[in-house]
Amino acid sequence: MKILFAASEVAPFSKTGGLGDVAAALPAALARRGHRLLVLTPLYGCVNRTLHGLRPLGIEVGGASLHEAPATDGVRRVFIENEALFGRAGVYGEGGGEYPDNAARFAFFSRLLLPAAEALSFSDVDLLHLNDWQTGLAALELARGRGRRAGLTRSVFTIHNLGYQGVFPKELVDELKLGWDAFTPDGLEFYDQVNFLKAGLVFSDLLTTVSPTYATEIQGVEQGFGLDGVLRSRSDRLVGILNGVDHQGWDPSSDPAIAAAYDADAWAGKARCRQALCRELRLEPPPGTMVMGIVSRFASQKGFDLILEALPELVRRGISLAILGNGEGHFEHAFAKAAARHPGRIGLRIGFDEGLAHRIYAGCDAFLMPSLYEPCGLSQLYALRYGSPPIVRRTGGLADTVEEAGEGVGTGFLFDRFDSEALIEAADRALDVFASPERWQALARRGMAEDFSWEVSARAYEAAYQRALGRRAAKVVRS
Ligand code: ADP
Ligand code: GLC
Repeated sequence: MKILFAASEVAPFSKTGGLGDVAAALPAALARRGHRLLVLTPLYGCVNRTLHGLRPLGIEVGGASLHEAPATDGVRRVFIENEALFGRAGVYGEGGGEYPDNAARFAFFSRLLLPAAEALSFSDVDLLHLNDWQTGLAALELARGRGRRAGLTRSVFTIHNLGYQGVFPKELVDELKLGWDAFTPDGLEFYDQVNFLKAGLVFSDLLTTVSPTYATEIQGVEQGFGLDGVLRSRSDRLVGILNGVDHQGWDPSSDPAIAAAYDADAWAGKARCRQALCRELRLEPPPGTMVMGIVSRFASQKGFDLILEALPELVRRGISLAILGNGEGHFEHAFAKAAARHPGRIGLRIGFDEGLAHRIYAGCDAFLMPSLYEPCGLSQLYALRYGSPPIVRRTGGLADTVEEAGEGVGTGFLFDRFDSEALIEAADRALDVFASPERWQALARRGMAEDFSWEVSARAYEAAYQRALGRRAAKVVRS
């Protein structure tokens, strides 16, 4: 199949969260299965062109110029440059805020996908794989193009997070020439506003989301963010496919970012990683106590209210915390205060730091992720792979990937109620097992042995693509 994959972030060039990791690894896994892949993404000012060897292609299309990264894994990665829209330090915004012209930025990106592919001689695309609200309008564009050549291309839209929808005032319909014909309840109208994500949901041929449990949850009022009705109406076209882990990029036996290599059979390196992490974050955990890691966007979605509430109790139980995060300012302030109150016990780094993220997954004993909701979650998968059992809330992809520890079974600890008591109860169960190094290591090793490879996910996406294309076959036969 010929697949055009569009995402607003692609690691290692640009990344604010899991979408960047997925947009890097999934196309590569699909290419390994013999498909032809072109990935398109904006060229932000923060992308290090020299480091990544980007070269201008000398192709101008629709107000953008195209740049390409060297293809090392069979995937073409092409960057859309428009200095006025994308030549800035942030991806979606700076200092915790959003850029005021994000609608124009990502409408531009969405509309340029098919013309850019044509200009790159990547024509006759079978599948346009879109991701999150930033690409939603591309589904509308494609639907409008039906009947022309684009009518043979099918679209698959992946929801990575329903909490971010790209909702803007309806004045945009004129400003961005979206066409009032699409501003209807079964189009992109949403409570008298324009909703880019909804455009993706209603105009795509097939919808996927990043875990089976989340696929069910978003069809309910509680987690539907106002779009549960739309999703229920398309439930026969909605599939949950779990994300994977890029085994090369996330491997404690060969990770250049961590202090010492280790694996399930050679465990000594993990203790060195722990020591190095404690030095780096100035942690002084009392002997025999647990270091808990957190690597996250600071957003309410991730359960930081619970963590802040539970902090004094966790510290009282002897737990130290290694925290890396950035995002909502009030969380940054609250954690800075907590760290000042508990020197040596709460090690905090505010910012986005890929290397430190790896060192926390490797150096912590257990990993905390008490999300309010979690479409899939990659952090808990990385923690499993680095032998740091996760403590998570039973929601979305966390419920699908972590199994409660018991005698000889399980990989981590789960709790249901979204409150700090439930979190502390789960931490207590973890401390119980942690008291026995043998039992803890056995638990960690079971986690390391889990196989969340992209190969499995890529096969599931392939089946989804076939399904989306199946409709085309039916149409062609009829006409
Ligand atoms: P989400 O996409 O909702 O943020 P995921 O768990 O799917 O959650 O993915 C988060 C990704 O972003 C992981 O690769 C994680 O290591 C990374 N990450 C999150 N916050 C930071 C940070 N402050 N510094 C470095 N990496 C981070
Ligand atoms: C989103 C979700 C996260 C998921 C990631 C990649 O940011 O919040 O759960 O793992 O996308 O799909």
